[in-house]
Amino acid sequence: MAPSEERIVPMRLQRFLARAGVASRRGSETLMSAGRVRVNGQVVREMGSKVDPATDVVEVDGAVVRLAQGPCFLVLNKPAGYLTTMSDPYGRPCVASLVPTSRYPGLFPVGRLDGDTTGILLFTTDGDVAQALLHPSKHVDKHYVALVQGTPDEADLARLGEGIMLDDGPAAPAHAEVIGPDDALFRTVAPEGARGDTSVVGITLHEGRKHQVKRMMATVGHKVLLLHRDAFGPLTLRGCELGSWRMLDEDEVASLQRLTVKQRRTQ
Ligand code: URA
Repeated sequence: MAPSEERIVPMRLQRFLARAGVASRRGSETLMSAGRVRVNGQVVREMGSKVDPATDVVEVDGAVVRLAQGPCFLVLNKPAGYLTTMSDPYGRPCVASLVPTSRYPGLFPVGRLDGDTTGILLFTTDGDVAQALLHPSKHVDKHYVALVQGTPDEADLARLGEGIMLDDGPAAPAHAEVIGPDDALFRTVAPEGARGDTSVVGITLHEGRKHQVKRMMATVGHKVLLLHRDAFGPLTLRGCELGSWRMLDEDEVASLQRLTVKQRRTQ
């Protein structure tokens, strides 16, 4: 059931605050103890207090807090070592453990990143938007930063830009550029001196095939050592730390919806 269809009944205040994304339940209790939470104008410190989301006005530091209506959209900064799946039969770490699935039942990732790839992964409860964003011929631009072996030359970059042949068919043209000999992003995982002959490449894909960046770079002779996605369409991580998530703001949700409407018209 999507959050917009959930039957909302009176609930404990700290649960309400957590579900509204104000803080964890523990953090919400701290806010309550500090006298920063009001219900219908009255400061509420008692942990057992209940609110009716339909009728009570809840404020934190004077700002009204409401439960999310409609579908949920958030981005995760995926760390390495997590599979892009909501459950794994072998019990391996998966991204489901990093996002608020109990607060937003039906949340799922839009597309996938390899287990060893880091960076932006969109989650939503809105199946229509996800389907439109994933349409095979109309994929949104995705920007990756890759630490690769060696340094691609102009000819390599031109081949990527023309669209190279992969074992499962031709890849659409991708804009690629050498960003530099190194990049702060990768300094912690591959400290200077340990990197050897490597360079950092920025690459924009319009498709989303399995291991696509790794296969494209390998085809032009530059094995990908580390891969990070820093943009998905109009979305960026915007200060979201590795392993944490943030809700999209209204403008970001609107920009996704505009994209999908445009895509549905062109399908
Ligand atoms: N391309 C890859 O090779 N891996 C990813 O995780 C994403 C794109």
